[in-house]
Amino acid sequence: MRTIIVSGASSGIGLATAERFARSGDHVINLDLLPPAPDTVNGTREGGGRVRWIEVDVADWSSVREVVDRVHAERGRIDVVIANAGISVRRGILDLTEDEVRRTLDVNLMGVLALWRHATPHMLRQGEGVLLATASVNGSRGYPLYADYNASKAAVASLCQTFAIELSPMIRTACVAPGAVLTPMQRAEYTDSMLDEVNERIPARRHARPEEIADVFHFLASPQASFVSGQQFVVDGAETAGATTAFFPGPTGPLR
Ligand SMILES: NC(=O)c1ccc[n+]([C@@H]2O[C@H](COP(=O)([O-])OP(=O)(O)OC[C@H]3O[C@@H](n4cnc5c(N)ncnc54)[C@H](O)[C@@H]3O)[C@@H](O)[C@H]2O)c1
Repeated sequence: MRTIIVSGASSGIGLATAERFARSGDHVINLDLLPPAPDTVNGTREGGGRVRWIEVDVADWSSVREVVDRVHAERGRIDVVIANAGISVRRGILDLTEDEVRRTLDVNLMGVLALWRHATPHMLRQGEGVLLATASVNGSRGYPLYADYNASKAAVASLCQTFAIELSPMIRTACVAPGAVLTPMQRAEYTDSMLDEVNERIPARRHARPEEIADVFHFLASPQASFVSGQQFVVDGAETAGATTAFFPGPTGPLR
């Protein structure tokens, strides 16, 4: 039975991903600040398999090291790490504050780096492992009102390349770069009419379901993806395939 660590698996994409792996028989550990969503039982919805929650702030480097080492001591191996926990706050450049920007980078960038960094020695000793993370299409475009978030996701794509180069052939890396996914994160920042506006601009005419991102993670962690490393997989319903670079629901200028 593989041991899979997923961060941010109490909600949204992480929850669906943890359930996807648990359902296929993997032992899954959820590292999250918060307990699993209330519509779950023991961290999973019906039919989802069992997921164990450990409370941790992924931005805390030494806590992440301690928890990764503990999981390895208990399980004897760590097969796959999915650094998924992330935050975003929708605000213009003139509204950015130092504390908020640092928190975004601490969670979205340092949280991935810490998890991957501390899993790496275990994977090297066992001679194999897969490091995955949730990036975003925001990492490759200038989506307004998300300056710090966009930069943090570009950094995740960069980590994915560097880890792959340094750690191949023992360890593979890959990121999933979703477009719009209907999760509590998206719900928190978009009104219904903004969601409709976004859907109109996506060629698929809708947001992704978290399960559609989970399926891609499941593939990337599988032997079928054995020659995939160092790359981002864009899963966006063709949002970024065309000439239009980005959609901007709501007013975006500095004087909005
Ligand atoms: N929803 C989207 O449209 C979308 C698009 C592209 C990328 N993403 C990325 O997908 C990932 C998951 O997002 P989601 O939409 O499922 O969000 P979500 O808010 O539903 O879930 C995020 C989870 O991460 C946890 N978390 C936040 N900060 C943490 C921390 N410091 N330590 C541990 N856990 C922490 C939260 O408690 C929550 O359970 C994020 O990295 C996000 O940037 C989301």
